[in-house]
Amino acid sequence: MLCFHRLFILFIFICIGCYIIGSILTNNKTGNLTSILSVDVNLAFSRFENSKGNNDSIASELIFAPSFPLEGNIRILSWTNDSHINWPLGTATFKTCKFPAGKTCEIVVDRALYNKSEIIFFQGQHTDPNDMPSHRYHNHRWLFFEFESPPQTWIQKTSLDPIRSVFNLTSTITFDSHVPITERHRTCYMDDKSFKKLKQEDTNFAVGKGSRVAWFVSHCNTQSKREAYAAELGKYIPVDIWGRCGNFSCGNKYQRGDCDKEILNKDYKFYLSFENSICEGYVTEKLWRLIMQPITSIPITLGRVAYHNILPERTFLDIKDFSSPKALADHLKEIDREDAQFNEIIRRKNSLVCKPPGNQGYPDVHYQCELCKYLHAHRSDVTQVENVLDFWSEDRRCTKVADYYNGSFELST
Ligand SMILES: *[C@@H]1O[C@H](CO)[C@@H](O)[C@H](O)[C@H]1NC(C)=O
Ligand SMILES: *[C@@H]1O[C@H](CO)[C@@H](O)[C@H](O)[C@H]1NC(C)=O
Ligand SMILES: *[C@@H]1O[C@H](CO)[C@@H](O)[C@H](O)[C@H]1NC(C)=O
Ligand SMILES: *[C@@H]1O[C@H](CO)[C@@H](O)[C@H](O)[C@H]1NC(C)=O
Ligand SMILES: *[C@@H]1O[C@H](CO)[C@@H](O)[C@H](O)[C@H]1NC(C)=O
Ligand SMILES: *[C@@H]1O[C@H](CO)[C@@H](O)[C@H](O)[C@H]1NC(C)=O
Repeated sequence: MLCFHRLFILFIFICIGCYIIGSILTNNKTGNLTSILSVDVNLAFSRFENSKGNNDSIASELIFAPSFPLEGNIRILSWTNDSHINWPLGTATFKTCKFPAGKTCEIVVDRALYNKSEIIFFQGQHTDPNDMPSHRYHNHRWLFFEFESPPQTWIQKTSLDPIRSVFNLTSTITFDSHVPITERHRTCYMDDKSFKKLKQEDTNFAVGKGSRVAWFVSHCNTQSKREAYAAELGKYIPVDIWGRCGNFSCGNKYQRGDCDKEILNKDYKFYLSFENSICEGYVTEKLWRLIMQPITSIPITLGRVAYHNILPERTFLDIKDFSSPKALADHLKEIDREDAQFNEIIRRKNSLVCKPPGNQGYPDVHYQCELCKYLHAHRSDVTQVENVLDFWSEDRRCTKVADYYNGSFELST
């Protein structure tokens, strides 16, 4: 014990020696000590990346040495606090990926681990330009993660200039990201067995339902101006607006989340699955939540997704297939009059099977596995996102509403 103690003191003296020679580390003593120790260890593994010329003094080696070896599990520090991402911490999130030990990833949120984390994870929407790490090591990689559309991402008022060129990797809903988030890019096909079964059962799903259209919505003013389309549609067929933007409410009668299903199954032949943004790759649970469950209402889509490529015909209606909201309303009234037509669409819709690319189940876990796999496969790559504000800009990713609606109704600005 005593012997160890002496050795330890000796070791500290050596380290303080390093510190004086290097004279690069400031602030609190324990912080310095850990940094020096980890740099020391890492010298054994390090590959020095373009360390500003051939300055091979100890000091510059210390400055430019990676703070961690590029081996073992990859530690991901989540710098931004996003309550939407409730991933279990540690390696737990990646457990189902079945990566071998040393080849998996680990999520941490403790900023004290910054110097010991290879990936710094920023959730785009929650990135605060005034709250960024103050320095970075050469093999730190900063990752820009965002599952929202650009108009929804850049909602903050502060200048975003400081974060323009700081990222190395992107992970967004578009396929040109380093790690695309593909869970919502599902494709559906009709399962013949389910369809036959529904046909045999011959239920009349129209019973007790009027011709009203339901819309569940909580963002009332959006990039897509879906509210304008719905208002115009409402001139020709009743549109009941549920939630924060309308007069209909589930109250406390239902647990939040299930009220839409019960109400649709009971009262509505149609519901509006309108996205808040007309942007590349932007398709949300607004569509999937009700497509993938046996709801007996027909979805009406509005968005920039190629709906006809991901859903079989006669399982939904897309506003782009109608010359105007009035033309759509006329079509809805026609379906309302013909139970056979309505039931056929519901039977087809309710026998859909939908899968993200790669055919994996458990969507949440699927993404984390893809992320970790990518990070390992490209571990020593040097990449940089030149301008994230351009990469993730409304101009580049979204359709102007005037072009999208193309004069199909009077869109007041
Ligand atoms: C090399 O590193 C030393 C110590 O940090 C520094 O004083 C010197 O200016 C560096 N030389 C070059 C060419 O960067
Ligand atoms: C993140 O935010 C949530 C909700 O505000 C809070 O409960 C949680 O403690 C925060 N986590 C961290 C790591 O700051
Ligand atoms: C990380 O290292 C830098 C420089 O080496 C140091 O200034 C900083 O205090 C360290 N941060 C932590 C949290 O240890
Ligand atoms: C809610 O009801 C009021 C009174 O009937 C009506 O004036 C208003 O337009 C309704 N709002 C919506 C969004 O339907
Ligand atoms: C990460 O990006 C920064 C800023 O663009 C760049 O200086 C650094 O070389 C990049 N590092 C890696 C490991 O890609
Ligand atoms: C826009 O509307 C015009 C006139 O109605 C039509 O000729 C044109 O094909 C439409 N363009 C698109 C992209 O839908």
